Amino acid sequence: MKHDSVLLNEAIEGLRIQPNGIYVDGTLGGGGHAEAILKQLKTGFLFAFDQDPFAIAYAQKRLEKYPHFQLINRNFIHLEESLNELGVTLIDGLLLDLGMSSFQIDDANRGFSYLEETSLDMRMDPNQTLTAETIVNTYEFAELRRIFTVYGEEKMAHQIAKRIVDSRPLKTTSDLVKITDQVNRNQKGHSAKRVFQALRIAVNNELDVLEAVLKQALRVVKPGGRIVVISFHSLEDRIVKHFFKEESTSKLPKNFPGLIDETFNLKVITRKPILPTEAEMNENPRAKSAKLRIAERI
Ligand SMILES: C[S@@+](CC[C@H](N)C(=O)[O-])C[C@H]1O[C@@H](n2cnc3c(N)ncnc32)[C@H](O)[C@@H]1O
Repeated sequence: MKHDSVLLNEAIEGLRIQPNGIYVDGTLGGGGHAEAILKQLKTGFLFAFDQDPFAIAYAQKRLEKYPHFQLINRNFIHLEESLNELGVTLIDGLLLDLGMSSFQIDDANRGFSYLEETSLDMRMDPNQTLTAETIVNTYEFAELRRIFTVYGEEKMAHQIAKRIVDSRPLKTTSDLVKITDQVNRNQKGHSAKRVFQALRIAVNNELDVLEAVLKQALRVVKPGGRIVVISFHSLEDRIVKHFFKEESTSKLPKNFPGLIDETFNLKVITRKPILPTEAEMNENPRAKSAKLRIAERI
């Protein structure tokens, strides 16, 4: 089992690594991007976060020959707090390669895949209490419909939410797939794709933690440092795009007679997102939906 890092060279180039810089990989996963960063460091240092202890254990082994890194088994929402606890106030760059690793998708017991019959789990952090099973069995109809509509952009959200409520208790991924198969009979692609995406986002609170970490990045990335984000669906990409736009736009009224406009924090390096090459997409189907955006702290 292996995780193929997506947009590896593009992301590392985007970070513009200084050999003596301090970098944070917020999403360690299999450690592919982390290793590429470490290869370019001389006296610099890498802190890498992952909320999944299995990712931490795997990457610790992979990276053990490199001297200058520390792995942190926490959600990246604790970025600023964790760095401060370690006595670090400013970093030279932050990388986020969002979503799940192949290890997580392929691990039949974790409930991320609609192709495996298993418990409805979907937690990236196995110590968290909220699971997909809790959501499908206890959330009210309207909240389920909202989750499927907003996080899954699922057109049949209403019907699916209704059938779920009528079929409770749901125990396994197959119980849920049976419902999406009935409702989404004529849909292109797998009937459960959007519902699984939606539940995963809800279980792991993925959009809120992304917004929160981007705000913290403004405080911890030093001027000239880069923020590099790889996203895998339009909801994530939209958050990154809007954040970069908002923070790179002047907040002064047009023609304000100020001396120096210091009301913006970022320079956007990628006006359009960088996409994987055809070759990468052919080799790694997971790369197909990836988008890379880069901004520089000013
Ligand atoms: C796409 S994988 C990263 C792959 C990695 N860049 C590589 O090259 O192997 C995403 C990883 O980020 C972790 N992750 C996702 N959201 C997180 C969060 N909010 N806090 C900490 N880790 C997170 C997941 O557990 C997963 O291991």
